[in-house]
Amino acid sequence: MDQIKILGKKSLSGSVRISGAKNAVLPIMTAALMAEGESVITRVPDLRDTRTMIRLMEVVGAKCSFNKNTLKIQSDSVDNPEAPYDLVKTMRASFYVLGPLLARFGTVKVSLPGGCAWGPRPVDFHLKGLEALGARITLRNGYILAEANRLKGTNINFKFPSVGATGNIVMAASTADGRTIIENAATEPEIVQLCDYLNLMGAHINGIGTQKIVIDGVESLYPANIDIIPDRIEAGTFLVAGALLGKITLEDVNEKHLEAILLKLQKVGSTISTTSDSITIERGENIRAVDMTTSVYPGFATDLQAQWVALMSLAEGASTITDTVYYDRFSHVPELNRFGANIKVKNNVAFVKGVKELVGAPVMSTDIRASASLILAGLAASGETNVSRIYHIDRGYEKIEKKFQDLGADIERI
Ligand code: UD1
Repeated sequence: MDQIKILGKKSLSGSVRISGAKNAVLPIMTAALMAEGESVITRVPDLRDTRTMIRLMEVVGAKCSFNKNTLKIQSDSVDNPEAPYDLVKTMRASFYVLGPLLARFGTVKVSLPGGCAWGPRPVDFHLKGLEALGARITLRNGYILAEANRLKGTNINFKFPSVGATGNIVMAASTADGRTIIENAATEPEIVQLCDYLNLMGAHINGIGTQKIVIDGVESLYPANIDIIPDRIEAGTFLVAGALLGKITLEDVNEKHLEAILLKLQKVGSTISTTSDSITIERGENIRAVDMTTSVYPGFATDLQAQWVALMSLAEGASTITDTVYYDRFSHVPELNRFGANIKVKNNVAFVKGVKELVGAPVMSTDIRASASLILAGLAASGETNVSRIYHIDRGYEKIEKKFQDLGADIERI
């Protein structure tokens, strides 16, 4: 199995182009299943998760071609509304086919995702939302079966502004009979782009980017083309690399999506300058300890929590990092401690006492963002680090070792 080998403490400089957003392209691909015809999606990151979603598209009957970050989805031939266990278990975002296929076929069978490395991750909001729209939901043999003649618009108020449930319900409601109002909806940029895409397909969605989304159902959707937004989580990861190790310019990036982390990085002591589509970060003389609490957008993203913990391990002083979105998302902590970091976790809070130096170690990734934090720690540590199970990183980062090599890091895949 591939590993990433790093010889750390090389300073980084230069520019890095940010890829398209994984969490935007995955639901947009499933939205393309709702209309017959060909949709073309550009700036698609070449990731393990994108490839898994392409396999799922093909299982349901779509024809896909993926070349140089352009993905064509031909969905005339979609005829098998079913997401099998072996795909859903490797990528929970497969669950995004639930709403679109139910809307198009009136029936869909999707494997129930299990727990994951971050804890239980239930899907009850998705299911309750679809039931409110009139779907009959049954669970058998580990699969959810949803059925409806035609969904009917309704009012839905989420207990928590779930990204996935908002996406699924917005898609399902786009062709429902009448008006659906989602209260406490997710406002993440990836959901904004999904709604924009559905409107390009002929949907009538208002309140996009607010917590109240209003969807007036239309008879049917037509195919549309879209260019994926920059990945704010990949960008945030490279910003942390800059704060640790040098001066990096991120190109093709959207500063507005990164306000929370940019503010924190300034407090850490990094210098930041921006143009309309680039951000340059330069490490300050010292790394100051700065507390952080994750929350939904526009708050600090939980998907950048592990990277922040890695940064704080080398800060001057102590910090506390609280995850309010996922209470159990600290599997990177024991691995970071193998580098000599001093981190303790109690409930959903990591208490970090900054150390002067991290020392390279063999470590193991447990999920996408945890592996990013281990690579950051390895780049900042003295000596050699080997990160194993790097298929996790390939799920969400396009050519990560090449991007760091171009910035001057000594990193290779072995
Ligand atoms: C998405 C992102 C993931 C990110 C997360 C939070 C994708 C493919 N994944 O995941 O990278 O970390 O948003 O920003 O876009 N919840 C329930 N019941 C539900 C749904 C969610 O209790 O039916 C809870 C979850 O357990 C969690 C919180 O709501 O505590 C937020 O989860 P959610 O926003 O749904 O995350 P995902 O869409 O799964």
